[in-house]
Amino acid sequence: MRFLFLGDVVGRPGREAVTSRLPKLIERWKLDFVAVNGENAAGGFGITEAIYNELIDAGADAITLGNHSWDQREALVFIERAPKLLRPVNYPGKAPGRGVALMEAKNGARVLIMNAMGRVFMDDLDDPFRVVEREISACRLGEGCDVAVCDFHGEATSEKQSFAYYFDGRFSLIVGTHTHAPTSDHRVLPGGTAYISDIGMCGDYDSVLGMDKDEPIHRFLNKIPSSRFEPATGEGTLSGVAVEIGKNGHSERIAPVRLGGVLEEAKPKFWE
Ligand SMILES: [Fe+2]
Ligand SMILES: [Fe+2]
Repeated sequence: MRFLFLGDVVGRPGREAVTSRLPKLIERWKLDFVAVNGENAAGGFGITEAIYNELIDAGADAITLGNHSWDQREALVFIERAPKLLRPVNYPGKAPGRGVALMEAKNGARVLIMNAMGRVFMDDLDDPFRVVEREISACRLGEGCDVAVCDFHGEATSEKQSFAYYFDGRFSLIVGTHTHAPTSDHRVLPGGTAYISDIGMCGDYDSVLGMDKDEPIHRFLNKIPSSRFEPATGEGTLSGVAVEIGKNGHSERIAPVRLGGVLEEAKPKFWE
């Protein structure tokens, strides 16, 4: 099974990278399932219903979120009628929507997909290890689902790596998101879980985290805001990972995907 996971879509350059390239990639690489992190899709902050529909129409089968889930207040309402939209599963209390869903891939496989958020240098949510343990125990790989995937949205690499090794073998794929910079530590862990600490962002990399450089630099120099953060406007890079998942739900190969913009191109050789 062929799985593509794309990183945080930032503003218009990120959306254009996805809408212009994804439909062709689905065809050329015969993708069975595409997941996209959409937490920065609306001007860098959150997601609207119109943008959710735009990403779904481009071929996303699931859209995950993170600390920016509710930046667009309408997300608190429309998430209830957006079955492919997932917010972190470990929000405390009464968060609307869902953090986990069982979906069907194009090849008929049952895909359990989950979004969890780390707690190191992040909001103090419920313990992601224990919440995810509960969810994966209720729908085990090879029993309740054929493929299990988790987007772990976190700042600290130590937390992401600990999470991945703790769940190694019980997920097909665990990807890190949130830092907006792709790491080159993609690999299949000993138990069969494909892993990368961060899949990067879909956005303009001639920027600071996808945002125009001037305001972040100004704030570091002066500790006073001078304007709002706005997404950079150059060509966006499509960034994520391509994963080949075997019949037993464990991964066989993982490769980086980077297309367009200022980053060096990367494609999965095993599909080209
Ligand atoms: Fe993000
Ligand atoms: Fe984030």
